[in-house]
Amino acid sequence: MQITNLTHTGRPSEPLDPRQLEFGRMFTPNFFVTEYKNGEWRNPRIQPVEPFALHPASLVFHYCQTVFEGMKAFRQEDGRVVLFRPEMNAKRMQQSCARLSIPQIDEDFFIQAIRALVENERHFLPGEPGCLYIRPTAMGVDATLGVKSASEFIFFILTLPSGGYFKGAGEGPGAIDVLVTRSVVRTAPGLMGGVKAGANYAGTIKITEEAKAMGCAQVLFLDAHDHQYVEEMGGMNIMFVQNGGLRTPPVTTDTILRGVTRDSLLVLAREHGLEVREDPITIDELITGVKNGSITEMFACGTAAVVIGINSLRFEDEPSIRTAVGSPGPVTMKLYEALRGIQYGRVPDRHLWVYEVCPAHAGASVGRATDAQGSLRATWT
Ligand SMILES: Cc1ncc(COP(=O)(O)O)c(C=O)c1O
Repeated sequence: MQITNLTHTGRPSEPLDPRQLEFGRMFTPNFFVTEYKNGEWRNPRIQPVEPFALHPASLVFHYCQTVFEGMKAFRQEDGRVVLFRPEMNAKRMQQSCARLSIPQIDEDFFIQAIRALVENERHFLPGEPGCLYIRPTAMGVDATLGVKSASEFIFFILTLPSGGYFKGAGEGPGAIDVLVTRSVVRTAPGLMGGVKAGANYAGTIKITEEAKAMGCAQVLFLDAHDHQYVEEMGGMNIMFVQNGGLRTPPVTTDTILRGVTRDSLLVLAREHGLEVREDPITIDELITGVKNGSITEMFACGTAAVVIGINSLRFEDEPSIRTAVGSPGPVTMKLYEALRGIQYGRVPDRHLWVYEVCPAHAGASVGRATDAQGSLRATWT
């Protein structure tokens, strides 16, 4: 499908400093949008970002018929602009659409639209440690209060210049405190936890606010039936280093999202000689493992936060626990570096995970990338 570009490629008025960018707040000036009517996606285009005029009865407002994806574009050291495993997001978007009766978005078209938009907005992509966060979203918009699928939809993609996800987590992987909740569940078998439905996140907002009031950046959810099995966080998967190997809950149920980062880290861990176990783990086993020292590291992973150490697990009514090794621990650091190395082009991309949007130097921004200390690292013209 031909994508019409109604914009001119713009530039930020001054260099974007990824350390100053608060996640989720700054958008590039243009976005991609297409509407579904009479059985087909129509008029795909890149245009200036503008509000939608939607009827107050639009389905998405009442019954949450909406799904989304989260992915990133990176500016590599030589100036190349790349996406990371976009085909996995394209596939997951299809699964999410299927679950919520939203018309399919062809996988190739999904990637083509992202590629066209990122290329257009490339001057808003800061160098390392920054990136362009990409948010494809589809929603049902018919004005009707009947509980049924919409017949009209909008699919749009926003791009956001981004730095780190957690404020104050510092350089490198960083570390956070996490609240384990036994009182709130994120999903249950048969619900939508295995796909990226907007409604999944609505249910986590209140408990996440409570966690934040306790100084915890994220909430760890347990299974809905026994309140025992560790599942995942509100927006990230979870991993443990146990007896030197890597352990994470399996994604064989429909209650845990199949994270692209999770999948990539499992591959990298094996490559680094770690034994990998995708094995259910109860919260009691986790507590015992941390206490007896067999579990030495805990970390979370996802596109937005990449890899982030877990300092401590707090509970609603029990003492908190932390690993003896400080967080982020050595295995967490090693996996973080391996993944970031591929994303930023420092490490050979043996798995062909990186997908080029603009060749070296064509993706040049305002020509400035700085290192962790803020020193100038590379320039482009
Ligand atoms: C609930 C949930 N789990 C896990 C993840 C991590 O997935 P990914 O690595 O594909 O970003 C995300 C983020 O998308 C998420 O929202």
